Amino acid sequence: MDDKTMQGWLGFWEKKTLPWHNDDVHEAIEKHHEILMTSPTAKNKIFIPLCGKTVDIKWLADRGNEVVGLEASEIAVKDFFTEQNIEYTSEDAPAVKGKLYRSTDNKIKVYCCDLFLFSAEIESGFSGIWDRGSLVAISPANQKRYIELIKTLIHPGIGYLLEMPDRDPSKGDPNKGPFCISFGNLQEGFGPDCSVTKLCAVEKLLPKMIQHAPSIKGINVLRLTFR
Ligand SMILES: C[S@@+](CC[C@H](N)C(=O)[O-])C[C@H]1O[C@@H](n2cnc3c(N)ncnc32)[C@H](O)[C@@H]1O
Repeated sequence: MDDKTMQGWLGFWEKKTLPWHNDDVHEAIEKHHEILMTSPTAKNKIFIPLCGKTVDIKWLADRGNEVVGLEASEIAVKDFFTEQNIEYTSEDAPAVKGKLYRSTDNKIKVYCCDLFLFSAEIESGFSGIWDRGSLVAISPANQKRYIELIKTLIHPGIGYLLEMPDRDPSKGDPNKGPFCISFGNLQEGFGPDCSVTKLCAVEKLLPKMIQHAPSIKGINVLRLTFR
């Protein structure tokens, strides 16, 4: 990711301006977490790319999953463990030019690095991926690269849930996220073995998120399935 975009994200954390952050577990995770927990070849290992300090990490770990998060901001990662009262250790992770934070019970790992330095050689065998504010946080110029990276973590039957806002194109600044993608473009990006369906609409929209991005008309959670 280019330095300017990364600085923009780190700036949100430094200023503690977090329009996307939800203090409650995501309603789709509460209802549909089983989708992420079992696949034909993997069980109870969930990847949350660009995880921020989402409370979903702990919620999923409390239900018997190993949760692997990845986040560029060290403020976010430390805030997550501190606010959730989880004891943790940290170590250098040279393979991703960053750090690895882990809970002392080893149920939660969070890589603090640029996503584009991550790969299936570092972590794999996921039963599910929870992509909330992750693909859509990536600028359109890099979304193809993001999808190519995520595809290396995909295997047939993996659970993939993706939150996708629905934006009114006539409103707001198109150069400012979230950067939404159509079903067609998603399907094309993930390839012929992927099919995309709408799982549910998010009922409780965060007022601060709508204030930040007034062009958001609604938010859906999509399910991607892979043959
Ligand atoms: C919209 S927030 C979503 C956070 C989280 N998924 C949630 O639901 O609360 C996007 C997050 O991605 C992080 N981020 C942006 N680009 C990144 C990158 N290239 N590598 C790692 N993290 C990144 C930002 O710091 C920010 O915390």
